Amino acid sequence: MAASGHLRIVVCGAGPAADVLRLVETAQERSWTTTVVATASALDFIDVSAITQLTGSPVRGSYQTPDDGGLRTMPPVDALIIAPATYNTVNKLASGVADTYPLTSTAELIGRGVPTVVVPFVNTALATRAPFQRSIADLRAEGVRVISGPDDGWIPHPPGTGTDRRADFPWQSAFLTARKMRQRRSDS
Ligand SMILES: Cc1cc2nc3c(=O)[nH]c(=O)nc-3n(C[C@H](O)[C@H](O)[C@H](O)COP(=O)(O)O)c2cc1C
Repeated sequence: MAASGHLRIVVCGAGPAADVLRLVETAQERSWTTTVVATASALDFIDVSAITQLTGSPVRGSYQTPDDGGLRTMPPVDALIIAPATYNTVNKLASGVADTYPLTSTAELIGRGVPTVVVPFVNTALATRAPFQRSIADLRAEGVRVISGPDDGWIPHPPGTGTDRRADFPWQSAFLTARKMRQRRSDS
């Protein structure tokens, strides 16, 4: 059966990264295929071999040379989810920094109009910083859906409580939001 779509997941260096298989499974249950791109920091949190086994694709963290086949085997992306998105990546992405494969490829997909959802995982101390608030506003102004704030039911946690919040990470809501954006785009 043909896939309903292909989801690119960019995972950053924060606790919920360890649970990214939940997003892969959520997508697969709805007949989407997935590939996972990890920042260098995320590699300390994730189980690369379990992800590779479940997605059927290697976890990408850097540029690969054409002769390894990596670039050519990446399928076209129907939706992009950056989750968990760190303070660092949210700020870099919003300001246009593209000094790694995850950032450059994400910047390009957003620029191509690929439906994009960002789910930050930051504590309240980081979330109140002006650069972060500007970054969220700037990403939203570009059409990126940032799941953050009381209206989204996903708010920053007090410093030191991230482990308790990890289980609540809104993987399913991120997928359903991305899928809806993709549907709207196809309808228009
Ligand atoms: C154990 C641990 C937990 C962390 N948790 C968070 C977090 O919840 N949110 C966050 O923004 N950064 C967190 N960090 C810091 C990021 O990993 C760090 O800023 C890193 O540079 C992010 O890189 P990336 O955005 O490329 O993934 C954590 C770091 C460690 C070592």
